[in-house]
Amino acid sequence: MSIIEARNIERSFDDLTVLSGLDLDVAKGEFLAIVGRSGVGKSTLLAVLGTHDLDHGGSLRIADTATGELSSSELAALRRKYLGFVFQDFHLLPSLTAMENVILPAVFSGGTLEEARAQAEKVLDKLSVRTNETPTSLLSRGERQRVAVARGLVNNPSVLLADEPSASLDEESEKILFDLLDDLRRQQNFALIAVVHSTAVLHRADRILELKDGILHEVV
Ligand SMILES: Nc1ncnc2c1ncn2[C@@H]1O[C@H](COP(=O)(O)OP(=O)(O)OP(=O)(O)O)[C@@H](O)[C@H]1O
Ligand SMILES: [Mg+2]
Repeated sequence: MSIIEARNIERSFDDLTVLSGLDLDVAKGEFLAIVGRSGVGKSTLLAVLGTHDLDHGGSLRIADTATGELSSSELAALRRKYLGFVFQDFHLLPSLTAMENVILPAVFSGGTLEEARAQAEKVLDKLSVRTNETPTSLLSRGERQRVAVARGLVNNPSVLLADEPSASLDEESEKILFDLLDDLRRQQNFALIAVVHSTAVLHRADRILELKDGILHEVV
């Protein structure tokens, strides 16, 4: 069973058609790299797959649930249960510590603060992040990115959606980040759908798909 199944996805902004009849199946645990020129619609696609953008045509199933039939609260619950996100510019809250940033989604997903803290500690420890620093103070870009990854993984998602997660990192930090993601993926078996530019990272992917003319093309 695919963890994500997208059929005939359409997305336009006024008269600009970005996604046009796009189909995609994502298997559990796979690393799917998405490439394509700037402005082609990669971020739009991730927003649709992540259920942040609901203004699309076609159908989307996540973990065998048709998202189009859900109320907004059911959709939020589905998102918290199955999806994790890493944004290009981190979206960390600057006045909170690394630990607090990572705890937040765990708190929103229910359960006690203690449970959320334990989960956050576990994933931050795996990612070797200093938990009590705030993103603006002592954390390097590489560390901030690892905090963003920890936050994306704290609810143990089935799918991690990442938009150019290493865009602002040097080669060494990028390698460290993807080594970690490979290890964590093996342990937790989440699918990784990432917009990727670097060839070093593309080599790690199970599949590379190019977004072009509104649909995905297999890159060989
Ligand atoms: N909210 C919006 N309103 C209008 N147009 C939009 C909106 N979001 C995206 N677009 C347009 O849709 C197209 C695709 O944008 P998108 O950000 O998905 O591209 P991208 O492939 O992620 O580009 P990049 O590689 O530069 O990040 C662009 O032409 C963009 O201007
Ligand atoms: Mg983009």
